[in-house]
Amino acid sequence: MKPRTSFISKRLEQIKKANLYRTLVYNKVSGPYITIKGKKLINLSSNDYLGLNSTPTLSQIQSSSRLISGNDVSFKKLENNLARHKSKNAALVFPTGYMANLGAISILTQKNDLILSDEFNHASIIDACRLSNAKKTIYKHNDVSDLEKKLRKKAQRKFVVTEGIFSMNGDFARLDEITKLCQENNAFLLLDDAHGDFVAGKDGKGSADHFRVTKNVDIYTSSMSKALGVFGGYIAASNDIIDLAVNTSRPFIYTSALPSFLADMALKRFLSDREKKRLELWSKIEQFSKGLQSIGYKMESPSQIMPVIIGSERKALEFGKYLKNNGIFAQPIRYPTVSLGSARIRISVTNWLSEDMISKALDIFEKAGKKFGIT
Ligand SMILES: Cc1ncc(COP(=O)(O)O)c(C=O)c1O
Repeated sequence: MKPRTSFISKRLEQIKKANLYRTLVYNKVSGPYITIKGKKLINLSSNDYLGLNSTPTLSQIQSSSRLISGNDVSFKKLENNLARHKSKNAALVFPTGYMANLGAISILTQKNDLILSDEFNHASIIDACRLSNAKKTIYKHNDVSDLEKKLRKKAQRKFVVTEGIFSMNGDFARLDEITKLCQENNAFLLLDDAHGDFVAGKDGKGSADHFRVTKNVDIYTSSMSKALGVFGGYIAASNDIIDLAVNTSRPFIYTSALPSFLADMALKRFLSDREKKRLELWSKIEQFSKGLQSIGYKMESPSQIMPVIIGSERKALEFGKYLKNNGIFAQPIRYPTVSLGSARIRISVTNWLSEDMISKALDIFEKAGKKFGIT
């Protein structure tokens, strides 16, 4: 039996045979010059038409696609680190996490394939599925039996797509069981770890590491705008998948590169002492969650994302307004971000919160819970 990834190398071979193969060449742009492998060249491939980026503060903005002249050397170090972080051979930075999802899903899935997507997946996954020619099926949220049943459908290749920590519920995908099902059914697993990355697992390696199944995820997508507090997205996968992304991923090729100062900043944050902050965050999560439970809220989320389910959209808006009037900002989340009738206040706990802030917030939540009949 051919390895299930053979279609990727086959497509790369076809691209090479047609002389259409592209590789990323790292460079450094400075005013009208570009330096490639130590050689300073006059840059006739820039979109900086007015020459405005020559001012020192803007000189790290490349204003071009990464396959043209936007591939600053900063990306190389960042991508090597991100690949290692996810225990993969390679990584590729996209301008946003949204685009990383569009890119990853569209390059891999084809007409006779089947995408199995969790019903609570983020809008960027939904949009990526809409762009793909593959058949799509939605499985019930985190429901392993429903996924198992749907994996029995016939298809050329199967791709399961899930978030690691769900952005509006805060629960972990059941990755121990999902990875097992993928293996049994020869299905690929794509994990969007935007909210688990740098938060869950040893050293913040993410939600798959939390379940000790890192190696069983085929493709990771993530965002550097959440726990890393910077901007940009990335995918981490095998060399062939990253190579295919460089060559065929439209949200990577046909857009300007992430400004290199953001790549530099992301690397700096990545290499900083995150672990201490991460451990502090988890103790604050526990404190906040226990605090909410002690004042009558039914809290099920095990992570930094804690939804207080209100139900009615109008009541959620009023609840949010009450919080705001009392010095607390926690956004009401309504349809279409969540289903109709399941409006909620989405609390996200951060390491910024001091003991005082947590106790003030709990005090207001206690009053709000009684006022709106939630607790
Ligand atoms: C689960 C999930 N995936 C992807 C994204 C997109 O990330 P970015 O903000 O970097 O585009 C988000 C952001 O809201 C998200 O919650």
